[in-house]
Amino acid sequence: MSVIKSTSYSISIGDNSFTALNTFLEKHSYNYYFIICDEHTFEHCLPTLLFHSPLLNEAEIIELESGEDKKTLDTCLQVWGALTDTGADKKSLIINLGGGVISDLGGFVASTYKRGIDCINIPTTLLSMVDASVGGKTGVDFEGIKNHIGTTSEPKGIFINPVFLETLSERHIKNGYAEIIKIALIADIDFWKDLKKLKTVADFSSENIITKAIALKNTIVKKDLHEHNLRKSLNFGHTIGHALESALIQQNKDILHGEAIAAGIIMEATIAYSLKRISAKEQKDITDYISSIYKPVKISKETETLLLKYILHDKKNEGDDLCFALPKGIGNYELYCGVRLDLIKKAIHDY
Ligand SMILES: NC(=O)c1ccc[n+]([C@@H]2O[C@H](COP(=O)([O-])OP(=O)(O)OC[C@H]3O[C@@H](n4cnc5c(N)ncnc54)[C@H](O)[C@@H]3O)[C@@H](O)[C@H]2O)c1
Repeated sequence: MSVIKSTSYSISIGDNSFTALNTFLEKHSYNYYFIICDEHTFEHCLPTLLFHSPLLNEAEIIELESGEDKKTLDTCLQVWGALTDTGADKKSLIINLGGGVISDLGGFVASTYKRGIDCINIPTTLLSMVDASVGGKTGVDFEGIKNHIGTTSEPKGIFINPVFLETLSERHIKNGYAEIIKIALIADIDFWKDLKKLKTVADFSSENIITKAIALKNTIVKKDLHEHNLRKSLNFGHTIGHALESALIQQNKDILHGEAIAAGIIMEATIAYSLKRISAKEQKDITDYISSIYKPVKISKETETLLLKYILHDKKNEGDDLCFALPKGIGNYELYCGVRLDLIKKAIHDY
């Protein structure tokens, strides 16, 4: 098992993470446990968790409907209500058992219930293991805007067991792998060289790869929890990727976060090349590797119009300046403000 120390808590990864969880539970002697899950993690993950952590057999189970469209304040009301009705007190523990939707929403609920109670994350998708569960960003979508209402509030522990990935679809493994590619490109050239050799979903979700990706994200988060500067690097691929995700969701098209981010990385790599932040060979390497894993996303004229609208509203923009987190050479990053609209349009057309 690997243990990564974060700001004030530990991230335990591997087979023995259940033992680490049991030690954590025994040490803290909480009054009540609440496990938040959805119907898929209820079926596929909860039995394994309860088998390995018998203390949790006394937990209240709060089962939510799965899906990004359920990451809303209405669902929070449902959970706050359940906590209140069952007498959850300040010394209760929320256990988020699920993907990024559960850890984002459960973390937000925990950080606001009675002005904040403890929570831990037991991520069950690759995306939530390497990204969503780490770093303390919690929240829900509001009026169609992703993660519009939320808090920065760190969990008391993260317990990651790759055994949960056995029931996850290939599509959802690739979904999480896009974030692994991203972190390598902005933070570690050697990791990127290792990734380029990986071809199968089993490779993408091995314990070593998960551990390395978390360690890189954790290093950045520890230096800049509130995203004043360095943490912005984690947005590489996300200015266009997030905008593309929002545009397609608005058109009721089927797209996962990581699929949009993979396309966003290709397009933002084109911008990085135009601005001489990376070489032609580096740009080609990025495009070729990502294209070998992900099918291209179709961008119609209507999608492009929406995409540009969302890019212009990106949170990172400063006044009229369009800001992108771009690699500066692979393994390094800079926030580049003043990206011209024609460069963005060219990157979309080249894609
Ligand atoms: N807070 C952050 O820093 C951060 C970072 C990245 C993404 N996110 C958020 O994460 C969310 C996406 O996360 P996600 O892709 O994990 O989505 P998700 O939570 O919707 O999970 C995807 C699907 O997989 C199912 N599932 C989960 N674990 C399973 C398992 N072990 N076996 C079978 N099915 C399983 C879920 O029920 C769901 O249907 C988005 O809301 C995004 O905004 C947050």
